[in-house]
Formats: sequence, C-alpha cells, structure tokens
Amino acid sequence: MTTPILILGAGRMGGAMLDGWRKTNAFAPTDLLVITRHPGEALLASGVRVAPDDAQIGSAKTVLLAVKPQAWRDAAKSIESKLAADAVIVSVAAGVKTQAISQGFGGRRTARAMPTTACAIARGTASLFAADAEALARAHALFDPVATVVELSSEDEMHAATGVSGSAPAYLYAFIEALEAAGVTAGLTPAQASKLARSTITGAAALLAETGGEPADLRRQVASPGGTTEAALNVLLSHNGLPPLMRETVAQCIRRSKELAA
Ligand SMILES: NC(=O)c1ccc[n+]([C@@H]2O[C@H](COP(=O)([O-])OP(=O)(O)OC[C@H]3O[C@@H](n4cnc5c(N)ncnc54)[C@H](OP(=O)(O)O)[C@@H]3O)[C@@H](O)[C@H]2O)c1
Repeated sequence: MTTPILILGAGRMGGAMLDGWRKTNAFAPTDLLVITRHPGEALLASGVRVAPDDAQIGSAKTVLLAVKPQAWRDAAKSIESKLAADAVIVSVAAGVKTQAISQGFGGRRTARAMPTTACAIARGTASLFAADAEALARAHALFDPVATVVELSSEDEMHAATGVSGSAPAYLYAFIEALEAAGVTAGLTPAQASKLARSTITGAAALLAETGGEPADLRRQVASPGGTTEAALNVLLSHNGLPPLMRETVAQCIRRSKELAA
C-alpha cells in the first residue's frame, strides 16, 4: 500500500511530482498530504490535504522527502515521532545517503531517487536506489507514473546519475540560451533567434523520443558530407569541443554531489 503519501516540501521538485500525479491521475488528491512552509493558492485549491493533522500524518504509508539537502534534518525532526512505524521514506535530496535519512526517520525503510523536473508533465526521468526491496517498490510506485525509471545497483552511482540526469535539464537550457545568443550575434532579432532555437531543439528531442533512433544516426541524417552542418560539427565535436566539456561538466557536478554527501 503506497497511499496516503505525505509530501514533505512542495517546492520545485515536490510541486513537480504533485503536478505529474495530477496530470496522470496517479493518486486521488485526498490521498496526498502536504507539509510545506509557504503553500501557494494553487496548492491550497488543488484538493490535496495541506498541513495535515497528527492523525493524518500517522496514516501516511509513504513520505516523499523533497526539501533542500540542508533542510532535511529539521524537516524529519518535525514529523518523525508522528509517523507510523511502517511508513517508508523516499528521498529526492541530492547527496544525502539512505543510511543517514533512515536514521533521521527512526530507522524506517528508505529509498533514494534522483528525478528531473519534467515529472511535472509526466516526461520525467528518475534514478532509483534502495537496498531494501519494499522501499524500492515504493519509489517505483511514486515515480513510474511520471518518469522513465532507471534502477541503480549501488548508492554510489547516484552521484553519476545526478551528473547525467538530475542536473542535466539545466545543461540543455544553458545550451539553448547559448544557441539563441549566437543567433543574435549572427544577425537575427532576439525574437527570431529564440523562436528558431527553442522550436528546433524541442522538435529534435521529440524526434529522438518518438523514433527511438540513435543520436549519432540522427546527427548523420542532418550532416551531409562537405555541408554546413559538418562544418559546424567540426567545431562542436573537435578535440577541445563538446565531449571534453561534457566530461568536465558532469565531473564537476559529481564532485559537488560528493561534497554534499560528506
Ligand atoms: N529542482 C530540481 O531540479 C531537483 C532535481 C532533483 C532533486 N532535487 C532535490 O529536491 C529537493 C528540493 O529541491 P527544490 O529545488 O524543489 O527546492 P525548493 O524549491 O526550495 O523546495 C523545497 C521546499 O521545501 C520547503 N521546506 C523547507 N523546509 C521545510 C520544512 N522543514 N518542512 C516543510 N517544508 C519545508 C520550502 O519552503 P520555503 O521555500 O518556504 O523555505 C520549499 O517549498 C532537494 O533536496 C534537491 O536536491 C531537485
């Protein structure tokens, strides 16, 4: 039994999960209990139970821990004694280990997830880890309706999953910003550059998703030998181009993830 689900922290990520579950009708709003510091109008009007009483907190079968990594201990302390002994914790807090979370929640079963914000539109991605089978099943129950899910075989892989997935939507948005800026430098108006860059990237991503093709094959389909795209890719894929830049980008993300975990 997964529900009732208690969402602890309804900010960007907790809010994205609520949006995704609403969109997919994954759970009845009355099965969702939310504790968050500043609930907005939309949350209050959504039919979920905001600021549940102690009895409702005690009825929660699953807790989605979605506060900032620095805030999780205080958040745990505020509800731990009210939770049922068999409540399962699913944490999305970057870098915080399952063992620490389990201890903070009185030894309860715990899973970790590293999701993306596209869970809000049921197009998310989530890396899951739990040593405990029941906790892993509970994490699946939360994320399967709104995300493509990848199970990790060791908790240490969570750092790499953060570098390649959890943080990666920001890389793509940064790429689009840079492409738009390059378009303006090349003489387009900002409106033209943004419309062209955004539509092109979202269309290309949709093509990848819908065809299930290999990115390298799709790239070759755009780049004819001796043509304009090939000239561009000679820069982008040069020895000091995108591949080493992505390696360093992911490496710095992993470094920070390990710092947060220390
Ligand atoms: N955003 C992402 O793309 C993403 C992706 C993967 C994982 N995550 C993880 O998701 C977690 C949340 O990140 P976020 O970006 O959603 O942060 P956020 O927008 O700041 O959301 C955290 C929410 O928790 C509330 N909160 C803080 N302390 C609380 C407490 N003691 N009790 C109840 N609610 C409390 C905050 O309220 P106030 O703002 O009023 O303080 C805020 O609404 C982090 O651990 C992060 O590592 C985020």
